[in-house]
Amino acid sequence: MINVLTNISSLVTLRGDGSRARTGHEMQCIDEIRNGALVHNGSTILWVGQASALPPAYVDGATVTDCTGKTVMPGFVDSHTHMVFAGSRSHEFARRLAGASYADIAAEGGGILTTMQAVRSASVDELAEVGRRLVDSAVRHGSTTIEIKSGYGLDVASELRLLEAAGRLKQEGRAHIHVTFLGAHAVPPEWKHDPDGYVDLVINEMLPAVAEQGIAEFCDVFTDKGFFTREQSTRILRAASDHGLKLKVHADEIALVGASDMAAELGCISADHLEHSTVDEVRLLRDAGVVCTLLPGTAYTLRLPFPDARMMIEQGAIVALATDCNPGSCFTENMQTILSLACINMRMSIEEAITAATINGAAALGISHITGSLETGKRPDVVIYDVPRYQDVVYHFGVNQVTSGRMTDD
Ligand code: NIG
Ligand code: FE
Repeated sequence: MINVLTNISSLVTLRGDGSRARTGHEMQCIDEIRNGALVHNGSTILWVGQASALPPAYVDGATVTDCTGKTVMPGFVDSHTHMVFAGSRSHEFARRLAGASYADIAAEGGGILTTMQAVRSASVDELAEVGRRLVDSAVRHGSTTIEIKSGYGLDVASELRLLEAAGRLKQEGRAHIHVTFLGAHAVPPEWKHDPDGYVDLVINEMLPAVAEQGIAEFCDVFTDKGFFTREQSTRILRAASDHGLKLKVHADEIALVGASDMAAELGCISADHLEHSTVDEVRLLRDAGVVCTLLPGTAYTLRLPFPDARMMIEQGAIVALATDCNPGSCFTENMQTILSLACINMRMSIEEAITAATINGAAALGISHITGSLETGKRPDVVIYDVPRYQDVVYHFGVNQVTSGRMTDD
């Protein structure tokens, strides 16, 4: 079945050489076509260009959608989320508003460990249902590809249940889902007095079981003050790599403990957070080709300093944007909100933010040859916004501008 979108007032293509992440000034070049058209067959984009040049042969017998007054962009690639969990942390949110810090609550055994308690008594069905609602909502807000991490089980069986729940969402095809094992998200209470023993458990028991289960594609570690040291993280990531997993790191969120340095050394695909990174960390990441994934929703929620996106772009690093959707430090699945935060609080331009949330997000998952731009041969991850220009998606903030995403398109 051929689908034609035509008379698109603002068609943001991000056309390039199809797969390359964009850096520096290239992040401005989103290649907008005014009065554009796009043709796809449900699995591949066949043609993109001016509506006036649309070959008539495509239109005969096709499903034609008139997009007058609308904007079309590539679906967002939300490359960092923790959407599968159980329970709520609204009480901790209220405590933080009253003055407690994220680190205080974590040190008292709350935070990630509060969610861990709920996850350990939840079934795969229950975990999948939480994730399903968030994924569906994310899609309604313009995301078409979503990464989901485990990390709230912190024992072998519970981590495998989280991954199984994420795997179910992937199979259901509600969005294009990529799954990450984050067993080293926090040290659970039973290992409190022997964190290295927990690291051994992750390496010797969790990783082999995760590899055998075959759902996870990436391994991530929370390398930060009060969580995992650089040395512990390095051991885990090297072992993960031996099991064929690609590597990611939560880096420089709370303090500088050498996480970016490690990410560069180990050739991680991305280093995420980077609220405290300086030019030294960013140069290491740039030189190693590690994607710098910024999560401004977390800086906003935790009142952390925002990552220095301008410096990163000036340094030529690959900058991506993601939600970090999770029950503690950032509870939103809305990438439009993330773009607004990036532009207002990190001084990114609208074009830079769109690039970071699409093709560069795809690079953070190693799939920029498949999605992240609208060009012939790529997957038709197309989102239609009910606004006449792409700038309006960021300008008119706090409301959902999506009129039709992947779920209703194919
Ligand atoms: O990315 N930094 C570590 N992990 C999450 C927080 C998870 C939580 O608080 O539940 C994050 O911010
Ligand atoms: Fe995170």
